[in-house]
Amino acid sequence: MINLVNCCSKKAEVKFIGETAPELEKLSGAVMRIFKGEYLQTAFLPEEDKMILLVGTGKPGREKIHLKELGAAAVKAFLDVKIYEFSLDISSVLEEYGITALRHITEGAVLGTYRQKQFKGAERTECQIEICGIPEKNQQEAKKIFEEALIVSRGIWFARDMVNLPGNYLRPADFAENILEFVKNTEIEAEVLDREKLKEKGFEALLGVGDSSEYPPCLTVLRYRGNPQSEKITALVGKGVTCDTGGYCLKPADSMLGIKGDMAGGAAVAGALYALAENHVKVNAVAVIPMCENRISDGSLLPGDVIGSYSGKTIEIANTDAEGRLILADAVSYAVREEKAAEVLDIATLTGAVVNMFGFTVAGVVSDSDELFRRFRQGYTCAGERYWRIPFYEEHEKMIESKIADVRNMSSGGCGTVTAGLFIREFAEKKPWIHLDIAGTAWVNEPIFAFQSAGATGAGVSSIYQFLCEK
Ligand code: BES
Ligand code: ZN
Ligand code: ZN
Repeated sequence: MINLVNCCSKKAEVKFIGETAPELEKLSGAVMRIFKGEYLQTAFLPEEDKMILLVGTGKPGREKIHLKELGAAAVKAFLDVKIYEFSLDISSVLEEYGITALRHITEGAVLGTYRQKQFKGAERTECQIEICGIPEKNQQEAKKIFEEALIVSRGIWFARDMVNLPGNYLRPADFAENILEFVKNTEIEAEVLDREKLKEKGFEALLGVGDSSEYPPCLTVLRYRGNPQSEKITALVGKGVTCDTGGYCLKPADSMLGIKGDMAGGAAVAGALYALAENHVKVNAVAVIPMCENRISDGSLLPGDVIGSYSGKTIEIANTDAEGRLILADAVSYAVREEKAAEVLDIATLTGAVVNMFGFTVAGVVSDSDELFRRFRQGYTCAGERYWRIPFYEEHEKMIESKIADVRNMSSGGCGTVTAGLFIREFAEKKPWIHLDIAGTAWVNEPIFAFQSAGATGAGVSSIYQFLCEK
């Protein structure tokens, strides 16, 4: 539980102090010697009737991602010492960064309390957090920013919960059911196409992958019409592979642990659409999430197979572990043809290559539209996430040409991230398209930023939300 209040009332309170703050000089004793206001430095300062926690904000002029960290670091420091009721006085941060810093601090504070579901008894402890220190003149605006940030944080929280769930708790049908439950009291209209419907409609690529498992594939469609005056619909297509063993091109044992997180793109678009709907953003968007497992069975694809697709194009299977692009291909053409999307964003844990390129803090972008990328860049900058656009040329398009089919599901010449993206683009029916590869950023074994916890990060939710807000 987190609230915005006029005055801090708790017996434990966080104060943020920068390296150049005059307050530093008012400190005394051991705290004065130790605490220099360095970024994320913390120190407890017991007072007669209150426990003060000092959190260093470092030098002025930090990025938004760091403001999120400040909120989370403050919360984590109190939780670490089992203090669950406290206030965050953010006046000094607002003075330096303006009222919009409230959004990042709130998001950071909420995510700082995130704990994944445990299977050994210990449940999440409820906290009571207050945020205070808002100047009188900003109170109204602050309330709006705070409410909006809370809703976005809920979207991120949901995405993390889904990605953290073990594969045996989240079969494709469970994933769909969880999303439907999550969006049920919103303005979102939800529909799930089951295996029968997929067959009837010709989702041959999604079925090609999904029929490898006794847990059948499905396609979840979430429609949000926030702007009835406009015809324009943006498609948000997210990969929903609830377990990716690689199929017959089996993954080595040591890369198997992450396979349950291969639906992070699907979770991200569901979280983002929830946030758009709950914040009543004036935009029309449809989230399309193809869901399936990628396993070994009599029904699995084999390297060398040729399959059809929803679009009618034929695909040569060069590698059964390149399954994400297959199911996204069908979902993307469905989004354009049946949901009438005018532009397409897809997001997926798609390639190991992007992890080699950018590590765990920067996601890859491939796009054929400067305009779409410009809007997305504005979104991720606002959200405080990191992305980088990778260029592509005709020679890259050639790398996925097949001798026997319209297209091949693996590159013949490397460039794994770009060619995976270009494969999906083949199915976007020439609509402006942007592709986000979050294979590196969706999961961290250990937190890299303070607002993360080990496991799912909720990558993409906030950037996609901000992208469609276009402030
Ligand atoms: N889900 C994986 C990509 C992945 C790798 C996600 C590492 C998270 C961490 C994807 O389905 C995959 O296996 N991609 C292959 C494609 C290759 C066979 C062309 C890859 O990147 O190795
Ligand atoms: Zn794979
Ligand atoms: Zn995969």
